[in-house]
Amino acid sequence: MHTQQRLAVEIAGLGSYLPERILTNSDLEKMVDTSDEWIFPRTGIRERHLLADDEATSDMATAAARTALESAGTAAADLDAIVVATCTPDYFFPATGCLVQAALGAENAMSFDLEAACSGFVFALTWAAGVIASRLAHNVLVIGAEALSRFTDYTDRRSCILFGDAAGAAVLRPAQNGGEFIYAELGSDGSRPNVLITPAGGARAPASHDTVERRDHYMKIQGREVFKAAVNKLTELLATLPERTGVSLDEVKMVIPHQSNVRIINSAFQRAGVDLSKAYMNIDRVGNTSSASIPVAMTEAVERGALERGDLVLFLAFGGGLTWGSVLIRY
Ligand code: UT7
Repeated sequence: MHTQQRLAVEIAGLGSYLPERILTNSDLEKMVDTSDEWIFPRTGIRERHLLADDEATSDMATAAARTALESAGTAAADLDAIVVATCTPDYFFPATGCLVQAALGAENAMSFDLEAACSGFVFALTWAAGVIASRLAHNVLVIGAEALSRFTDYTDRRSCILFGDAAGAAVLRPAQNGGEFIYAELGSDGSRPNVLITPAGGARAPASHDTVERRDHYMKIQGREVFKAAVNKLTELLATLPERTGVSLDEVKMVIPHQSNVRIINSAFQRAGVDLSKAYMNIDRVGNTSSASIPVAMTEAVERGALERGDLVLFLAFGGGLTWGSVLIRY
């Protein structure tokens, strides 16, 4: 999908939730054959948050949503739609979105989940902007929420060092503060599903003693392959932004990339000739939280005063599917 249209839709409020428990690189040293000296230089990650035993994705999503609704001054009953971007839902069904709807008391909202892995939030945001612009909805709650630790194999050092749990939320509505949704370029390439996959538990390989024994209910990653594909696509998305939007990177106040690996972000910025100081990073403290990473980072940037109303912000995502997205907004 490739659109360029000026829509008077803005992010009215933001919120995030990071679970209390922290897993540091030195904690991981006690679990698998790894070290802080290996993890930090190769990923930029020092620690990540993990949800408590009695928490699930919908709990984190609801907590982030409550803050976003409060900051937007929007009542839950006034929401027309809730979309939860997640690849780690509470259940296959009912949708995590429906559980969030009930917890918030958002009785007038149609609710569902959207699965586009790490690109989930930008896909969901684009859907929400589209339905608001076409007057199908007025107030839409967009959430990225992931309980990745539940699907992480803590005996696999190639993957378990990367992931954390979190949720981030945004309330979208017709603009009242001069914000706008300017541009979205979203894409997918499903020809290489195995590079990032949870092989079992779905219809292809239903859960069985065998699948559990093979640990196939956990995420499997061909890290090098994903790394290369991510750098190439993010470089292209950055480099083509000015010709496609008429907006130069100099005019963009901040780029919020999906926090996948600091080396992926550095390489893409370097190749595209974009100053790395434009990129907002919090991967050192949160790790890779898939669809939650962009709204969590944006909430933090606004809370810290690094991003203000009127600023141009570019979201960049790449992840499982494979999927990717570049979304330019005025906050
Ligand atoms: O958001 C989208 C999802 N994100 C991703 O899929 C992540 C993208 N990929 C990456 O971030 C990087 O590929 C990783 C950080 C996952 C891995 O870094 P790498 O430089 O690509 O390492 P590698 O997998 O090629 O492994 C290099 C070596 C191997 O040793 P041998 O076989 O060459 O002797 C690994 O066994 O490093 C070893 N290794 C480790 N050593 C210590 C892999 N993981 C670890 C570890 N600690 N945690």
